[in-house]
Amino acid sequence: MTNPPVSVGEMPKLHQPVMLQEMLDQLEPRDGEIIIDGTFGQGGYSRAILARADCRVLAFDRDPYAAAAGRDVAAQFPGRFELIEKKFSQIDAYLTERAYDNIAALVLDLGVSSPQIDQAERGFSFRFDGPLDMRMGGEGQTAADLIAILSESDLADLIYHHGDERHARRIARAIVTRRQTAAITRTGQLADLVRSIVPRSKDGIDPATRTFQALRLVVNDEMGELERILAASLRFLQPGGRLLVVSFHSAEDGMVKLFLRQFSPSGSQVSRHMPMALPSPSGQPDRPAFVFRALSKKPILPCAEETKKNPRARSARMRVAVKFAAAAAAFPATAAAAAETGRAAALMGRA
Ligand SMILES: C[S@@+](CC[C@H](N)C(=O)[O-])C[C@H]1O[C@@H](n2cnc3c(N)ncnc32)[C@H](O)[C@@H]1O
Repeated sequence: MTNPPVSVGEMPKLHQPVMLQEMLDQLEPRDGEIIIDGTFGQGGYSRAILARADCRVLAFDRDPYAAAAGRDVAAQFPGRFELIEKKFSQIDAYLTERAYDNIAALVLDLGVSSPQIDQAERGFSFRFDGPLDMRMGGEGQTAADLIAILSESDLADLIYHHGDERHARRIARAIVTRRQTAAITRTGQLADLVRSIVPRSKDGIDPATRTFQALRLVVNDEMGELERILAASLRFLQPGGRLLVVSFHSAEDGMVKLFLRQFSPSGSQVSRHMPMALPSPSGQPDRPAFVFRALSKKPILPCAEETKKNPRARSARMRVAVKFAAAAAAFPATAAAAAETGRAAALMGRA
């Protein structure tokens, strides 16, 4: 897929990274480390990490639009940065192929960036009319395909579960009625249809927001992607490695929270809500070899000043954890555990 041309009235805005300072404070990049930015976007996080320490960043983005910013960052930090056009669920295979065993941190800033949303041709926006596409990487079914083929009850479930939309059933019914006379192929058509059903809320949020979010999450299998990268981070992060996730949707944050709880020293049981294939010591399938310790129980939220300046930050939630060998996490105070986990043990003092 080539970068789509920009033909809307509004030029895409540069992406304003959310909770940039908090990310740096929590991540504490160090000289010599290799850090993965799994959601490169416009490179706001990668640039800040590279400027903070003499480290290397391996960045991933499934969307070819990221390539131009990737070239800029590579030129600004020669020999310390690489952008790989892949999904973050493919990071583990990429690292295994190249025999990386020293990944110090994984950073994920989920969702889409402002330039993606602002390009009508990408089909993410209910504000600008464009083809109902929503694919980040150009492969698989588009949102228009889903709208055309799903049954009324599947559409209702999709919109309800992924969009937290209580009018999901009525929206699904209206879609099915409309598509009997004309295919719904444009973002404008769908947005108008939803607006004719969902009343405008007092906070001024567009009634189409939740339906568009639900379709985007499913078109890009965003929950599946997140589940796979979380499971993989158990393998590829080195002991003491940090995991930092910024999410914008309650289901994503819930998945990260559940994952950290499931793989905390006290809770390392496979959950029926999140049954993952996991690395585990032999003969103990429900006792993983590595666990995470969350650096704070509650998610870190953006400050009021940031949410005022950048409305996109309003729903942001950051969770940070450190990976330990299971025994070290269970007995962090012992000298052996401290020696084994090194910097990780120091970090855990912040918990
Ligand atoms: C919110 S933006 C990241 C912004 C970035 N932190 C910055 O400061 O510019 C999210 C980016 O992640 C990418 N993305 C989302 N899901 C992905 C996945 N599963 N694999 C790789 N990239 C993904 C999107 O294409 C988008 O560019």
